[in-house]
Amino acid sequence: MATAASEAIKEPVKEPLKEPVMVKGLPYLGNALDMAKDPGRFFYECYRKYGPVFKIKVMGNTYTVLAGSEAANFMGTREGRDSLRSKEFWQGLVDEWGAARTLTGEDGETHQKLRAVMRHGYSKESVKGRYNELVEITDKVIARDWPVGQLAPVVQNMQYIVTEQLGAMLTGTSPREYVKDIRTTILYILNILVTRQRPKWMLKDPRYKYAKNRVSELGRRMIAEYEAGKADRDPARRNLVDDVMEAHARDPDLIPRSDLILSLTGPFVAGLDTVANTVSGFVYAVLKDPEVLKRVQADADALYSKGSIDEADLRTIPNIDGAIMEAMRVYTIAVAQMRTATRDFAFLGHQIRAGELLYVATAVPHYMEEYFPNPEKFDIDRYAKPRAEHLKPGVYSPYGRGTHTCLGKTLAEVQMALTLSRLFYKLDMELESPDYVLETKVLPTPGPSMKFKIRVKGIRH
Ligand code: HEM
Repeated sequence: MATAASEAIKEPVKEPLKEPVMVKGLPYLGNALDMAKDPGRFFYECYRKYGPVFKIKVMGNTYTVLAGSEAANFMGTREGRDSLRSKEFWQGLVDEWGAARTLTGEDGETHQKLRAVMRHGYSKESVKGRYNELVEITDKVIARDWPVGQLAPVVQNMQYIVTEQLGAMLTGTSPREYVKDIRTTILYILNILVTRQRPKWMLKDPRYKYAKNRVSELGRRMIAEYEAGKADRDPARRNLVDDVMEAHARDPDLIPRSDLILSLTGPFVAGLDTVANTVSGFVYAVLKDPEVLKRVQADADALYSKGSIDEADLRTIPNIDGAIMEAMRVYTIAVAQMRTATRDFAFLGHQIRAGELLYVATAVPHYMEEYFPNPEKFDIDRYAKPRAEHLKPGVYSPYGRGTHTCLGKTLAEVQMALTLSRLFYKLDMELESPDYVLETKVLPTPGPSMKFKIRVKGIRH
């Protein structure tokens, strides 16, 4: 007869693993139209209907979607790390550029080594002591691109600010004349080679070929400038170029010559769309709400009241910080991370098989009432204690999750806080009309449309 103790140690009966539900779609296109319209909303609606696992089809490819806080938390676990890899999604880019590897497409030990090489150059440490220089660059671009009385194209102008800031920090020169080429290159790379939402023959487009050549030229220029001035480089101004070039000399197997252009132009590619889209979303939401605008201006005025700023000062703008966090929740750049299953594994009772293409839709909780009450509202007070809505596990992932979490996060935070505080300090701005509603785009990354314009009413300082 079974005793109570032997009952207790009996293995629980295991339910057989289920197959994820396939979301209905059109022949061949599958769910491509929903994805092209608003991938964040589409993943959210599927999550509500089917739960945290389902399958979708996009242009003939089937993807398993792991969604919600469950998926975000899974990415940070040992099992998640061992079950997911990035390689396949970035291989097209690596081949197209004749490289051996790229940081985003590596996993395991090589990925860790590359992250270690690039960690300092991608962090806010690389701009330490240079905040006032960044302010000066930002001021120059504001004076040039945001004339009083005119409508200014916000996303494009932000792309110039971001690129000039990164260029000055990395190379000491402005890569302004390359901004359009970087933008075109990102568009083609992400649409065709990474997310595969456009056919491969489009790589033959002369506009892409021209832009790619120009980005290569920028990379070659960075290498040449480094090599010419190696002996005189200032150790206090050590940046990603030093780190990558020294690692190449030390360990050419890890970073061969063929990988230098992609590695050195990486910050422009990684930073341009992401930061520019987020800060543009911020500009719209803040100008839409006069109360929030007042609070943002008050932060900016206090920050610059003493003339110069340092790292500690940038921590004293709670309204701007709250609005940046809210812009990243509402206008999430990376609504999902793309991965391949490295092995068969179970996710919440569902069978995922080795080789399956996956979307890990980590941003789904951003739009959920349960975590962010009244989620449609741009509410800059969500993040301060005691509410701190973002701190529930797995609910807030603007920078992704797991091993590939944004390496430029701290640098991006400095760029965003500094750019936005300076813009709202300097300029009195308004939307085209008070009832203007923001148009958004999806490709290459979701965000405000390039058509979004504001009017500069006057100079505040
Ligand atoms: C609002 C600004 C930004 C957002 C929302 C953002 C978001 C992300 C996300 C979601 C990932 C993970 C992709 C994945 O797992 O597949 C990522 C990776 C990365 N980001 Fe950012 N990013 C931002 C700004 C920047 C900036 C300014 C830089 C550098 C200048 C940068 C550098 C990188 C790099 C190097 C990676 C790859 C990390 C790896 O693969 O290990 N990011 N970013």
